[in-house]
Order: sequence, then C-alpha cells, then structure tokens
Amino acid sequence: MATLTRLVAAAVLFTLVCAVDRNNFKTCQQSSFCRRHRAIKPGESPYVLLTDTLSITEEGVFGDILNEKSRVFFTLELYPLKDATLRIKINEKNPIKQRFEEPYALIGDGQTETFEVIDRSADELTVKFGSSRAVVKAKPLKVDIYNGDELVVSTNARGLLKFEHYRNKPEGDAHPNEGEEHGNAHPLEVEEDTNGLWEETFKSHTDSKPHGPASVGVDISFIKSKHVYGIPEHADSFSLKETISTEPYRLYNLDVFEYELDNPMALYGSVPVMVSHTPHQSTAVFWHNAAETWVDIKKLPDSNVVSSIAGFFSGGDSDPPQVSTHWFSESGIIDLFVMLGPRPMDVFRQYGALTGNYNLPPLFSLAYHQCRWNYNDEEDVRQVNENFDHHDLPMDVMWLDIEHTDGKRYFTWDHHKFSHPLEMTANLTARGRKLVTIVDPHIKRDSNYFFYKENHDRDLFVHTKDGGEFDGWCWPGSSSYLDLTNPEARDHYSDTYMLERYKGSTLDTFTWNDMNEPSVFNGPEITMQKDNIHPGLGVEHREIHNVYGLLFHQATYEGHLRRSEGRLRPFILTRAHYAGTQRSAAVWTGDNTAEWGHLRISEPMLLSLSVTGITHVGADIGGFFGNPDANLISRWYQAGAFQPFMRAHAHLDTKRREPWMFDTETLRIIRNALRQRYQYLPLWYTLFYENELTGAPPMRPIWVDFPEDEASFGIDYEHLIGSALLVRPVVDEGAVTASVYFPPGVWYDVLDLTIYSGPSTATVSAPRDKIPVYQRGGSIIPRKDRVRRASSLMRDDPYTLSVALDSDGKAQGTLYIDDEHTFDYRQGKFLYLALSYKNGVLTSKKIDPAGNYETGSWLERVIIVGLKKRPSKVTIQSASRGTRDLESFFESGSGAHASHLTIRKPGVSMSEEFTITIQ
Ligand code: GLC
Repeated sequence: MATLTRLVAAAVLFTLVCAVDRNNFKTCQQSSFCRRHRAIKPGESPYVLLTDTLSITEEGVFGDILNEKSRVFFTLELYPLKDATLRIKINEKNPIKQRFEEPYALIGDGQTETFEVIDRSADELTVKFGSSRAVVKAKPLKVDIYNGDELVVSTNARGLLKFEHYRNKPEGDAHPNEGEEHGNAHPLEVEEDTNGLWEETFKSHTDSKPHGPASVGVDISFIKSKHVYGIPEHADSFSLKETISTEPYRLYNLDVFEYELDNPMALYGSVPVMVSHTPHQSTAVFWHNAAETWVDIKKLPDSNVVSSIAGFFSGGDSDPPQVSTHWFSESGIIDLFVMLGPRPMDVFRQYGALTGNYNLPPLFSLAYHQCRWNYNDEEDVRQVNENFDHHDLPMDVMWLDIEHTDGKRYFTWDHHKFSHPLEMTANLTARGRKLVTIVDPHIKRDSNYFFYKENHDRDLFVHTKDGGEFDGWCWPGSSSYLDLTNPEARDHYSDTYMLERYKGSTLDTFTWNDMNEPSVFNGPEITMQKDNIHPGLGVEHREIHNVYGLLFHQATYEGHLRRSEGRLRPFILTRAHYAGTQRSAAVWTGDNTAEWGHLRISEPMLLSLSVTGITHVGADIGGFFGNPDANLISRWYQAGAFQPFMRAHAHLDTKRREPWMFDTETLRIIRNALRQRYQYLPLWYTLFYENELTGAPPMRPIWVDFPEDEASFGIDYEHLIGSALLVRPVVDEGAVTASVYFPPGVWYDVLDLTIYSGPSTATVSAPRDKIPVYQRGGSIIPRKDRVRRASSLMRDDPYTLSVALDSDGKAQGTLYIDDEHTFDYRQGKFLYLALSYKNGVLTSKKIDPAGNYETGSWLERVIIVGLKKRPSKVTIQSASRGTRDLESFFESGSGAHASHLTIRKPGVSMSEEFTITIQ
C-alpha cells in the first residue's frame, strides 16, 4: 500500500515534470489586464487632480482625481510618515462595490509625520515633511518626491496611471464598454482591447470575472538611478533587467516545477518591493497589493531612442539617467509606500517599520539542516543521524517530507514507517538535534481524517464561486484548502500544533510549510481559481492570492508560540512568501535543479530576497531535481555554508546523496564547509539579532556597506555577510580560480591571510577545497572553533576573536549571546557586546547595559591580523581577575601574507567586560 502511494505520488510528479513548460503559465499577452496596461501610451494621462477639492488635515492631504476621459472620480490620499516615508493611496471615490485593501502585510499604518504645506496654487501643491518634500502636480496628476532638493522618485511621470473602476456588466451583445454606467452617472472610457474584460480563458480554465475589469497601475521613476533590485521571486540577475523587449517581471505565487533561469517568470513568492540604489541615494517602494502584479522596467536615457524619450523627463535636468518602472495589479487599489533612505541601512529600517523585521531565530536554524524527500522510515532516520557522527559531520536538524504522514494527512504519522515518532525524536534530541516535519495547506478530503472533518464541519475551507467546498488536486489527491482569511480557520489550524493535538510531536518538532502558493495540480497555472471565494473575508481568491502563503506560515508561527505558551522561538520554513513573511518564516527557493546554473542563480535570488526584508533564505543544496556530481555537490555545500539558510534537500527520485555517499575527498570538502559554517555561527547569530533590531540583512550586496562603490552595483555572484566577510562562492563547473571584486579597503583571505587591497579585481586560486572568503580589514569577527556534532552542544564553548586591522591599525565588531532558543532575551537575558581595537588595545564593552546573561562561554583565543610588529607584552584586565600577562605568538607576514598575533587563553568570561593591551 505504502509503495503504491509512493508510486502514485511519483507518477503525478512525473506527469507534472514532463508537462512543465512555459505553456502552463500565462504570458503578458495571455493576461488581459497585463495587455491593457502595457498598451497605454506615455504622455497622455487623463487623470487630473481637482485642486479645489483638496483638504489638509493633521494626518495628510486628501483630494479628488478626475479621469477626464471616463469622467470617473477617484480619491488621492497622501500620508507623510515618520522616517522619510510617504504613502500614496488612490482609490475609487464612489465604487459600486468596495475595493479590496490587503490587511495582512503591514504591522501598522506607519506613524504620521508632522508636515506643512509650503506652496499651493491652482495646479500644484508642495508638502514638506522632515527633510523631504512631495510636489503634487494637478494636470496630469503627478507626485514628485524630493529628498532635500534632490528629485528622487516621480510617480505618473510617464502618464501610465490607469485605474479601472468597477462597472456593471453590459447586457446582451452590447460592446463590452458601451452603455455601461458607473454608479449612475458616467460613460466609460473605451477600451480598445476588450478581450477578457468579463471572462478570461487560459487553457482549459475559464475565470468568470463576475466583477469585470478592475486593474490598477502607475509608473514610478527612480531619478538618477541605473540599478534597481528586489521584487522577488524570480530566477534572474540581482540588478533587474530592462523588460522592453521581454515579458515584464511577474509577481504571482506559483508552483513552477523545474523553473527556468534568467527570466522574469513568476515563482513561488511575490514581494512587491523594489530598491533603487545610486552612490548617494537609496530608495525603496512597496507596492502594497496582493493580487497578480506585473512590473515593467525601462532604463533611460536609452541611447537608441533618446529622441523619443525627452517627454518622459520631468524636471529641468537634461537627460539624467533614470529607471522608469511600471507596476500594475489585477485588482485592489493603488497603495504605494516610498521610502527615501537615503542610505541602504535607512531603507531597511524604513521598510522594517512597515512590515516588521525577522525575529531572532533559534540558533539551530542557522546551523546545517539535512533533508530529503524522503527519509524512508525511523530506521533510515536513525542511520543518517548516526552517520553524521560517524563521519564527523556537524548537523542540527533532520527533516521529514510528505511521506512520513499517513497518506499525506498532515499532523499524522505513517503507521508502519513512523510508528514511534517520540522515540525517533528523542534519539535526535539526545544528540542535540531537532526534527522538522512538513505541513501543507491542502487537506485530504477524507471524513475519517480528524483535521479534514473538523474544518469541513465548521465550514473553514475555501469555496468555489458557486458556494461549494473547493476540491483541488494535490499530494493527497482530492483536497480542500483552508480559508486562511477566516480567523477561526487560522486559530483552529494554529491550535493543531498543541502537543496534545499533534500527537507524536514535541517542542523539538519544527515546521516546514510547502505548496502554500497554493499549489493546485489541476488548477489554472497550477494554482487556485481566481474566482474561488474566501468566505472569511468574503473576497475572491484573486484579491489575496499572493498573501495566502503568508497567512499559512504566520498561523503556523502562532501555533508554535501557543504550544510553548510564548516561551520558545518558533522556526518555520515557507515556500510561498509575500511582504511581511519575514515576521514569521525563513524562505527557500523551491525546486531547483542539480545544475551549475542553479547553483549560480542562488546568489542573486537570495540577495533579492535579502534586500526586501526576507533575510533567512537559502537554496536546496545539491539541487532538488537530478543528481549532482562530486564537484557540483562540494561547490554547493561551500556556497551554502555562507548563505543564511543551509539545507541539503533532494527529490524522491534522486540517488541518495548524504555526504558519505561521495568519495573521501568530496566528503572531506563537505566536512570542511560544514565546519566553517559552525565556526562562524556566532557571527550569523549576532547579525540575525541585529537584523531584528535594525532590519539590516545578514547576507547583503556589497553596496550596502560601500554605497558609493559603483563597481559593485551589477555584481551577481558575490556578497557580504554583515559588513565583515566577503564571500565569492565558486559557481562554475571545473573552475579552480575565481575572479573576486574587492571593495575599497584591506581584505584578508580567512584561511591563509593573503592580503588584497581594494578597489580591485583579482583572480584568486580556488582549488576544489577552497572557498574564497575574506575578512575585511577593520572588522572583528567572533567564532567558535571547537566544532561539535550540533550547535546546541557548543552553547558554552569558548570564543575566538578574529581581529583584522585596517590601514590605520583599527578594528571593530559586535557579539551577541543568549540562551539561543527562548524569548528570555526580550526580558534582558542577553549580552550585546561592542568589540573594539585601536592603539594596541582590544576592549569588550556592553552596548546595551540592560542586557545581562550569565554565559558559560569564555574567551579562548584572540588573533590579530595585520599587526605591524611583534609585541613585547600582552596583558588582560578585567574586574574579577585584575591584570594578568598573556601568552602570545607572533608570526610575521611574508610578501602577500599578513602577519598575525595569536593571544592564547585570555580566559575571561564573555559576561565580563575586559581590556587586552598589546605593547
Ligand atoms: C515540493 C517542494 C519540495 C518537496 C516536495 C514534496 O516540490 O518544493 O521541496 O520535497 O514538494 O513535499
């Protein structure tokens, strides 16, 4: 029976894999609203602000907009918000049906900034807030946003604003635009392309579109910009490409098997956030809309069409570069947040204030995860667990995919293969490890299955347009889908994580949420019909599609909180994501392939997520589909060791590929990569703490820390970890060298201390066992060099501080320490330390004096890289142990290699402030 289930699953998947090609997914041409927005001619905007309707309150500026062609009225709302942020909303004034406003992504409406109107005439209004200004032009409507005197963002500069008001469906054979009335007054704007206004068919699916056309769109120009980033998820370059002669970037959460590289097709997640960066100005926009969205990108001036674009420019500037983007969504309203930076870190803080930051995750989740579809049974899990120890490989978490359940009924266990889950879990936790099980949002329609029955009886599933319970096909076969817009459905689902409900789970069982786009094998584009109904909110699926996955993983997070009464930090991995996902989940890039191109694309994909707030991110190591050879798997482990979420995973049909399945050299390379991951866990952990505080992404592009260094703006395959480590994974088949761009300053190879001076590009030697990783001169990195089988066993282990000096002989860093898994840190049980080295003195001081945590960890070693001469004496001073001499060992540099001083056993507890003096 079990074999049969597996065969069926494999057969379904096989069919899908073979069926997957671009034809399963819409092009812009096949999406009527995409066509309509792309067809708008620039420079002919009919939208006019009626300045005599303007009202100004303490909250913002409000006025009416008229579409002069259709004579339909709209409302404009401008909210100047604290921290250089402006919110612009455009909605219908008198809609025949209320327009949907996405209620889940924001953590608040943003704090209102005091502002003043500094200029007002019949055709213009200027509002000053902080050091920013918004200039609203009336005819045609245009909002220019300035940072100081600098024009940064311009909306509707090209006149692409289009807001399709709700209208009544025309009767009989009338032209779809004729004779309709909006409310009871206005004739309609005539659509040239009327195909798909009231019904739209794609392949065998027809979307009934009972509310007709309702799309919204506008252009947003980033002035003086050449590079824009973000809007994940796409398998494309980090700096986004022009889309003039390609499809627009599409944001529509989809389950795309064997996705293609270097193209703008939609993938599993949609984060409608774009960051523009120039040497002096970082800016972000958040297009707050959860319906299907497309984004076109045009870079100006374009040398080929310079003459035709003169009209696009707004200010008096003669042809400054700019990136003009065009955003359009199928429904909802225009709700745009503009964050004016001006530095990258400002933008992360500003965006974090709107949608939240990632909560400090439990430390184990930053360590190494071992997954496979599937570990077959408890004996398999036991053997893999033991083999990691046997081969001296650290590992923190084992993962169980869908086959561990009783027939893909989540929250249950296969009676034969996983009949003793508690013992199995205890066997993992005895070695300091954890378990993750998978829980998907499609629920097997089986009235003997408790979770189906409970939800069915309480009517908590999504409905079809006709009001019945929606039945879609997924892993369990015929399935119903939780209506996550219904608070009762979320609450009930969250409760199912209580240990007495999820039998066989423990507080060491964590959760993987997959297929939550949602994936529906027999649905249009492998997802749910847009005209399905979510009874909870009473809206069509179309309105909330991109946020469905977030609702699911957020409710999972809530469930984890509940089961420990808010004491323990949850860990959730999700595939689908939206703006705000970072509040409750880590994200992986879905079903990649064991090919070099997929290893390569992991870098820009993870960077794109990182700069849009989703920071705990990774790609399946080894590639999900296919079988990586020894070379590819070792390079992939090396890259993964320096990316935020490190998990190996493989498809059911692939060969077993645990590290010991390869030759001894490959096993050694993987072991080294894993050991480096564990050594740097204190750095990752500190950065994730800072991520919670400030929004700064731990994995980041070079420009975050070198905003003026234009040479790095287009780099795809290199990143920083914090501001201290530069990583250039080797991502090319057979390569034994790598071309590394070093930003300004001094950089040291972390293993052999070779010195590089930036800005420069160097070809470095990168044999199979080498990961090109460099520490920045001027940084101090905390490490734990005694690597054990799991991170929890290293909690009280001693630290090594790696102090890399800059050309002035200085360095600084931070270190965060707590119990690594509870929320006690929010009650002050933590240590947050400033580490600083200058004039021969290294100090550790509390940054936040409120933090107090008695760690068992102490300082085992200090390595000072780049010291000019051998010191005569090294002493340490701390309150409890007074002043003592320390033993040290100096190795002078040779040629390209830096000198280093190793200070042995300072021995001081990390809870205590100290000073080490080098004379
Ligand atoms: C999806 C996931 C993959 C998982 C599989 C079975 O394809 O992306 O990671 O192994 O489903 O659950």
